[in-house]
Amino acid sequence: MSSNSAKYSQFVMPDHINVVGTLFGGQMIAWVDLAAAKVAHRFLKGADVDGAVTRTIDKVEFKEPVYLGDWVNFTATIVSAGTTSFKIQVDAYAEGRDSEPRLACVATIVMVAVKKDTEGYYRKTPHGKSC
Ligand SMILES: CC(C)(COP(=O)(O)OP(=O)(O)OC[C@H]1O[C@@H](n2cnc3c(N)ncnc32)[C@H](O)[C@@H]1OP(=O)(O)O)[C@@H](O)C(=O)NCCC(=O)NCCS
Repeated sequence: MSSNSAKYSQFVMPDHINVVGTLFGGQMIAWVDLAAAKVAHRFLKGADVDGAVTRTIDKVEFKEPVYLGDWVNFTATIVSAGTTSFKIQVDAYAEGRDSEPRLACVATIVMVAVKKDTEGYYRKTPHGKSC
């Protein structure tokens, strides 16, 4: 697997459901953020950083409802890299027992590489990576 992409999956359980019986959008966004964190972890291997934090979650689009018992399969891809930041595209495909995977949610996330300073604060730091 390339260091510029990652896969991540979640199973939709009763605790994840909203009042109209579909996956709660805030839960989906939390999973999208985790999928982005996974590709960030991979992308930053070998960089002189302590990790990365989410700066923006842009253009979240819920394209299809997701149901109890679906698997949600995420693909997260680094699409551009700046000095301290990098942009990630996340696509979430829902997969029911008897249906083909369908594109349920798309989002763009910007993360910023950080390093702990001498006072213990995490500050932005160049990651030295390209894509
Ligand atoms: C992320 C953080 C460390 C950045 O520090 P900062 O001093 O505000 O940094 P800047 O505003 O100079 O931006 C840093 C980078 O993000 C980019 N950026 C900032 N705002 C952006 C936006 N709205 N859209 C796209 N990129 C943006 C900048 O262009 C810069 O990229 P570059 O270095 O690649 O050119 C700081 O804002 C922070 O700690 N935010 C809270 C993060 C957080 O708690 N996230 C949730 C939990 S993970």
